[in-house]
Amino acid sequence: MTAPRILVFDSGLGGLSVLRELRIARPDAELCYLADTAGFPYGGLTEGQVIDRVINAMDAATARFAPDIAVIACNTASTLVLPHLRAAFDIAFVGTVPAIKPAANATTNRMISVLATPGTVKRDYTRALIDTYSFHIDVTLVGATRLAELAEAVLRGHPVDEAAIASEIAPAFVELGRRRTDAVVLGCTHYPLIREYLERLAPWPVTWIDPAPAIARRAVSLLPPADPVVTAGVGRAWFTGEERDGATGLGAVLKRFGVATRDVLPLEDARRGRLAQP
Ligand code: DGL
Repeated sequence: MTAPRILVFDSGLGGLSVLRELRIARPDAELCYLADTAGFPYGGLTEGQVIDRVINAMDAATARFAPDIAVIACNTASTLVLPHLRAAFDIAFVGTVPAIKPAANATTNRMISVLATPGTVKRDYTRALIDTYSFHIDVTLVGATRLAELAEAVLRGHPVDEAAIASEIAPAFVELGRRRTDAVVLGCTHYPLIREYLERLAPWPVTWIDPAPAIARRAVSLLPPADPVVTAGVGRAWFTGEERDGATGLGAVLKRFGVATRDVLPLEDARRGRLAQP
């Protein structure tokens, strides 16, 4: 029995919040992390741009890594590209979409907020989740323009702009008469990585809904069972762009998530390489 190879994809470092849950759920797996840093942030891209970038990235990644399964650890991409990916590639894809159903179950005040990128809050997919699971409660959609970038900065050890984080999350906290928001969906995979800041800077305590553990369970359920004698799996990362800051701090971040090596995978080169193969 060989360990499964799982591809985890995001525009940046946010998908590490899903990778760490995959590591817990399937300790033997070989985890290949691909971040489209040359296209980051996806939150402000047009739908066409996101679709093109993700298809190109998956083309490169499936050719290079031959994964058993791919996890799109990005809400901004998953709410758009999953049907395209499933039509174009033979492997199974697991997506990450705003956890509106668990938030609707968690709220007692019938008031939830969805904190996500501007792209994710605009999607028909997100509207459909709201219509299906939270039509009976008040839902505030917050398109945070800078929060993913602020989370990247925190992770990379840059100075933290706490006032900016506070103002990005403030619109998610709503008071309606004697009721107020009591559950907030972390609708971007970057946000769970700065959860301690979110908790501290929130105007009042709420239940934060992070879908990563459920996504990891779903992905693992699609794989053959693990060998009873588990050997620890490796983690490796690729970035589509060069690190602007010379990767200061990045190696340490990746190590914290059990990712031992990193490399650059320019999408165009990878595609040429694939075409060159017999
Ligand atoms: N981590 C991504 C998400 O879950 C988005 C970050 C970005 O590229 O804007 O939506």
